[in-house]
Amino acid sequence: MGSKALEEALLIIKVMDAPRFIVFEGIDGSGKTTQALLLHHWLSRRGYKVLLTEEPTRDLLTGYFVKILLRSKDRYPPITYLSLFLLDRLAHQEKEIKPALQEGKVVISDRHHFSTLAYQTAMGIEREVIDRLTDFIFQDFFWPDLVIYIDLPPEEAMKRVESRGKTSSELFEKIEFLRKVRENYLKLAEEYNFLVVDGQRNPVSIHEEIVKKLEPLFPPK
Ligand SMILES: Nc1ncnc2c1ncn2[C@@H]1O[C@H](COP(=O)(O)OP(=O)(O)O)[C@@H](O)[C@H]1O
Ligand SMILES: [Mg+2]
Repeated sequence: MGSKALEEALLIIKVMDAPRFIVFEGIDGSGKTTQALLLHHWLSRRGYKVLLTEEPTRDLLTGYFVKILLRSKDRYPPITYLSLFLLDRLAHQEKEIKPALQEGKVVISDRHHFSTLAYQTAMGIEREVIDRLTDFIFQDFFWPDLVIYIDLPPEEAMKRVESRGKTSSELFEKIEFLRKVRENYLKLAEEYNFLVVDGQRNPVSIHEEIVKKLEPLFPPK
């Protein structure tokens, strides 16, 4: 094989390996929505069809129930939150993620499974319970191909959230709680090989770092 042909073959192998299901994770205010949008634009400009989505879901009834529960001042048993998150994830997968992947789209989700692991274990639920319930609810669980974790100290994240006006649930915004969540994320990042980016920089340089990693996998169409 000539070197040009070899180069092309290697590119095809790389591209076949390209992540199709990309998830952003991080505490509230870390910059997930900002980066998911920037990545969406970047992929679209390169000619890819993209579904930009989020959890809790925006347009499904299950997401609506989760949001109502989170906004309520009334506290429920931790398993209630866990179960609703999982039901919403199942609906998200079956009604939105799966069809988009089947149409050849790249899916970018703002939060997914690892939010549950990081937050619900910080609420005191055993990891094993989450794993077992997930196994029970999903016959075929779609794991993200790539998780981009934006790391930011809770103090910094809370400043940002406050300045944008309170929209998220108070339940998950206490600083001590968020410290635990961040620790959980950092452990998960090692275990599952997340792409970890430092969220304490301006949005454009964070985006450039992400794009640098993804560029070889998404050649312009
Ligand atoms: N890198 C950054 N540096 C400073 N502020 C940021 C950065 N990224 C996002 N922001 C701002 O911080 C707030 C939270 O960002 P957002 O993307 O909504 O985070 P998340 O979706 O993780 O909660 C928004 O007001 C956003 O404009
Ligand atoms: Mg957001």
